Amino acid sequence: MKALVVSTLSQDLSGLAYTEVPMPERKPGEVLVRIRAASLNFPDLLMTRGEYQLKPDLPFIAGLEFAGEVVEADADSGFAPGDQVYGGNKTGAFAEYASVPARAVTRMPHGIGFPAAAALGAAYGTAYTGLVELGGLKAGQWVLIHGASGGVGLAAVELAKRLGAHVIATTGTPDKVERLKAASDADAVILAEGRFREQVAELTGGALCDLVYDPVGGDIFDESTRCVAFGGKLLVVGFAGGRIADISTNIPLIKGFSVVGVRAGEYARRFPERGKAIREAVATLAADGRLNPHIDRVLPFSRWREAYEAMAARGIVGKIVLEP
Ligand SMILES: NC(=O)c1ccc[n+]([C@@H]2O[C@H](COP(=O)([O-])OP(=O)(O)OC[C@H]3O[C@@H](n4cnc5c(N)ncnc54)[C@H](OP(=O)(O)O)[C@@H]3O)[C@@H](O)[C@H]2O)c1
Repeated sequence: MKALVVSTLSQDLSGLAYTEVPMPERKPGEVLVRIRAASLNFPDLLMTRGEYQLKPDLPFIAGLEFAGEVVEADADSGFAPGDQVYGGNKTGAFAEYASVPARAVTRMPHGIGFPAAAALGAAYGTAYTGLVELGGLKAGQWVLIHGASGGVGLAAVELAKRLGAHVIATTGTPDKVERLKAASDADAVILAEGRFREQVAELTGGALCDLVYDPVGGDIFDESTRCVAFGGKLLVVGFAGGRIADISTNIPLIKGFSVVGVRAGEYARRFPERGKAIREAVATLAADGRLNPHIDRVLPFSRWREAYEAMAARGIVGKIVLEP
């Protein structure tokens, strides 16, 4: 089969090649899946550079998440050949086939199609874990969502809106303001530059935000500490901006907010029942047609470089999907 293999770490993607590799051999407890679509996530890019917390042994097949059809499974696994599933196992998704533990896949919501299913797991799982499970989101609350043009950010905007929140979405790229307005139903889209607290205060009638969802970090995090309402939560989701911010502990004390670390995958591993409930909640919303991942473009695996370069250049609104 063909797969996108990372054989050396590099800053310029020179350590990657779309090449012939042996078919994976299914072990007991695993399902062998014929991959029909896979989606790119920021950690995929970081892993090619050795800059992600997970550092797989080289060489490895890239790709966090996929959707496809079960080819082979244990009789007692709950899956049978032909079942449509989505999920992933940290690596291995950018290939024609993958063999992963049965618990790493979920049955696809009826009628959503492989590209949307491939974009459902990481982004919406993270959004649900952050906003609902850890953030306690309630209808009518104000939520500030950064990096909202990205996969994780746009999923959070959509989920928060479906759950009845008022959403202020931000982008750090001026020409994405209009694209983000077109791609989402956020109540407001603002440019996250400099002192954006004044805009947040104005939009919320001075109340500020009950939740701030931050996949970007750095200066965005710093200014966000001025945007959280008393009793609110600042959700630390990622560091796409490249700088991990510091915070003086007197700030959350004086302003009465909490800083909450969101680690969706690890949360689901440590609390499998909660992880299952989160996956089911997302799948139900998708099956009801209430969540529709925004797909920026679909490319064949052979054009993997274009996908990675677009992500590195912040050129994506939503998700890029790759297909064998
Ligand atoms: N905590 C968790 O469980 C979890 C799970 C999945 C992902 N993550 C993290 O969430 C973050 C976003 O992931 P993603 O897959 O949504 O990535 P993505 O699709 O590339 O989105 C990231 C967004 O961040 C913004 N950004 C700001 N500064 C940037 C910079 N210097 N380089 C690139 N983007 C920058 C960009 O939006 P603008 O151009 O509009 O500003 C971009 O759209 C990553 O840090 C990832 O590791 C965390």
